[in-house]
Amino acid sequence: MNRSGHFRTSRVFPAGHAPRGVDVPSTDHSDSSTVLFPRDFLWGVATAAYQVEGASEQRGASIWDEFCRIPGRIADGSSGRVACDHYHRFPGDVALMAELGLSAYRFSISWPRIMPLGRGRIDTAGVDFYARLIDELLAVGIEPVPTLYHWDLPQALEEEGGWLVRSTAERFADYARAVAARLGDRVTRWITLNEPFVHMAYGYAFGVHAPGRTLMFDALPVAHHQLLAHALAARALRDGGHQVLLAHNHTPVVPASGAPQDRAAAQVYDALHNRLLLDPLLLGRYPDLAALAALGAPDLGDFVRDADLDLMAGSLDGLGVNYYMPTLVAAPGPGEALPFALPDYTSRFPGTPVTAFGWPVAPEGLYRVLTGLRDRYGAALPPLHVTENGCSRADTPDGAGRVADPERIDYLDRHLRALVAAKRDGVDVRGYFVWSLLDNFEWAEGFTQRFGLVHVDYRTQARTPKDSFAWYRDRIARARAGTA
Ligand code: FCB
Repeated sequence: MNRSGHFRTSRVFPAGHAPRGVDVPSTDHSDSSTVLFPRDFLWGVATAAYQVEGASEQRGASIWDEFCRIPGRIADGSSGRVACDHYHRFPGDVALMAELGLSAYRFSISWPRIMPLGRGRIDTAGVDFYARLIDELLAVGIEPVPTLYHWDLPQALEEEGGWLVRSTAERFADYARAVAARLGDRVTRWITLNEPFVHMAYGYAFGVHAPGRTLMFDALPVAHHQLLAHALAARALRDGGHQVLLAHNHTPVVPASGAPQDRAAAQVYDALHNRLLLDPLLLGRYPDLAALAALGAPDLGDFVRDADLDLMAGSLDGLGVNYYMPTLVAAPGPGEALPFALPDYTSRFPGTPVTAFGWPVAPEGLYRVLTGLRDRYGAALPPLHVTENGCSRADTPDGAGRVADPERIDYLDRHLRALVAAKRDGVDVRGYFVWSLLDNFEWAEGFTQRFGLVHVDYRTQARTPKDSFAWYRDRIARARAGTA
């Protein structure tokens, strides 16, 4: 969880050599034939509404609009008010996607653009924006893969309790139905929620993201209500013949040492980060949270109703895997509020390269996540899609306007090799989406972290494809031709 605030790690980027700490696939995975990448493999990029759209005055307020107004919350004092102006510039952005040769674009729909107050009145201009975007994509043969919720809750609903209250799940299902009724004729695959664990932890437990609440374990109902929202929406979407996915943030958990206390802490962390939001969807039950109850976490029985878990179980047609990095976990120091500590990954594995964000680069972690999901959930696991993967870097165009980003190319190449390795070992992975098409508003870090294949000059909105853009275009073309 070294994303921000007290979880942030250092911002150095030493030259790369092979990271250690997670299992390394043993065979040579350089070759990837058409068997590994069949024609219907989804080659994509991902963005999210608040991070790219702008045009904030043309929609209802979201929790991020409010959060960004609080001094000190965003590293550079910025907001997503204008962001990449994707709202107005989407035709040019879709043209860039066509140049990449993509088969899919994962974007998110802003709930307050569809329903400014989170319920009731539908804004037809908001719906129309997404209709035009979708049509533009379909015209160039790119599948639209919308995410219905990527953290921008309508502020009006936050004022009624946000994800702490059950009624927000019902409002979400109404919103999902309204969107599907208007756009469902052109969309087959929907992602309900993005990273509900991160939203709960950063937004409601630690307060480093909107809505900025610091409830610690009292944030737990946020997990349940998001899952319920997903399940209610999934039922409605599936009734209409749609396929439903959820994008979950996964991290391989590495104990800081072989000591039993570190291993126990790692298990608790794994249950929270990886399993809390997945076990109910895949197994119909929550993981054992006794370690949290001992620290005063609320009893799930206080807010879980009888039929909820039945509704959640088996509600996925595919699972989205967002992967960035592994997490090193140690036993907590005496008197700490959390049942684990999160030391810097490089403290155990010195020399591991880190991105501009300070996130350790460990492609083998993706292999471990993909194979680990298969091993843990077996037949209950639906097909996987890597719905986010990428790295931030301090990119600036040189005098000739070129953006050379060899570390990003290396990052993406090695993670794709890890994906290939997992496929060879029998994991059903059907898509890969780079985060992100464009440099964009990186939440609490504002515009200080650039993840794009395309550089954005936020003053002029000029788009400059980076070297990684050309690399990804060629990589897709080679996979399609069956030559790599
Ligand atoms: C993920 C988020 C995405 C982006 C990347 C870098 O956790 O889903 O919006 O911020 O991290």
